[in-house]
Amino acid sequence: MTSKFLFEGIWMDSHFTPLENVCFARDEFLVKDDDVILVSFPRSGTHWMIEILSLIYYNGDPSWVQTVPNYVRSPWIESKDFQENKKKRDGSRLLTSHLPVQLFPKSYFTSNAKIIYIIRNPRDVVTSLYHLLKGGFRHKQPEQFDEFLNDCVQDNIVYGSWFDHVLGWIKRREMGSFLLIFYEELQKDFRGSVEKICQFLGKKLKPHEIDSVLQNSSFSAMKENKMSNYSTPDCPVAHVFTEPMLRKGISGDWKNHFTVAQSEAFDKLFQEKMSGLDAALFPWS
Ligand code: A3P
Repeated sequence: MTSKFLFEGIWMDSHFTPLENVCFARDEFLVKDDDVILVSFPRSGTHWMIEILSLIYYNGDPSWVQTVPNYVRSPWIESKDFQENKKKRDGSRLLTSHLPVQLFPKSYFTSNAKIIYIIRNPRDVVTSLYHLLKGGFRHKQPEQFDEFLNDCVQDNIVYGSWFDHVLGWIKRREMGSFLLIFYEELQKDFRGSVEKICQFLGKKLKPHEIDSVLQNSSFSAMKENKMSNYSTPDCPVAHVFTEPMLRKGISGDWKNHFTVAQSEAFDKLFQEKMSGLDAALFPWS
């Protein structure tokens, strides 16, 4: 079990993101103009996107994703375990972060770095998180789904409120160098989504190279790839996650977890919190 601490009103995990790392990330981490940074709330399809980006970088050639762990290919800005990986890399970097916008590296806001922000239906995020945290990695004793859902809606989980995270980041979509993409969009039109990401990155891939991106970042390919499923012997977090990082890989599993009453209460909360945004923005509404 790990512990958590409050930083600027947001719960952070003391194992993955100790205070000094979060401070370093926000105040000292130097974002470069040619960085590409993938940002998400946990369990939104981050690792799927790391795989897609890794393959796009190598024009669909799977050798990088088959030989280098995902957390080395695209290290977390705020993570302790992956700090070393960031130092080693030069040139154009692929980076990952779950940080809310207010805790993001200050240097980003004056850079030309590209951000890809991935959003997933928060009901599926809660469901996916619940299963991941059922294993050893939790901040208190195992609990029932209703108790966990309650923690989520009260922002009592690491990285805080899904709503605040999304609202904070989504505002930046009008700025340049920002791509907003949905997990559900990837599932509905995988090829079209990959083409959209290529266009954002200024990468021109041939049709057979796109085919390879799709094939090698499919759920089944990733589930079998030790470099993508956190099962290499030297993986620094293997002992922490006892539940699979890749679980079902579908949309709508929340329906097997939420009661009708929970679903209605969540809908009401969603409408209240997201009232300033056009509901049509979200592919699940
Ligand atoms: P489930 O628990 O619902 O299966 P993150 O990478 O942000 O932690 O998100 C993890 C979720 O993305 C998990 O959801 C995982 O199974 C899903 N996922 C990972 N790779 C995927 C892929 N190639 N296709 C579909 N879903 C994927």
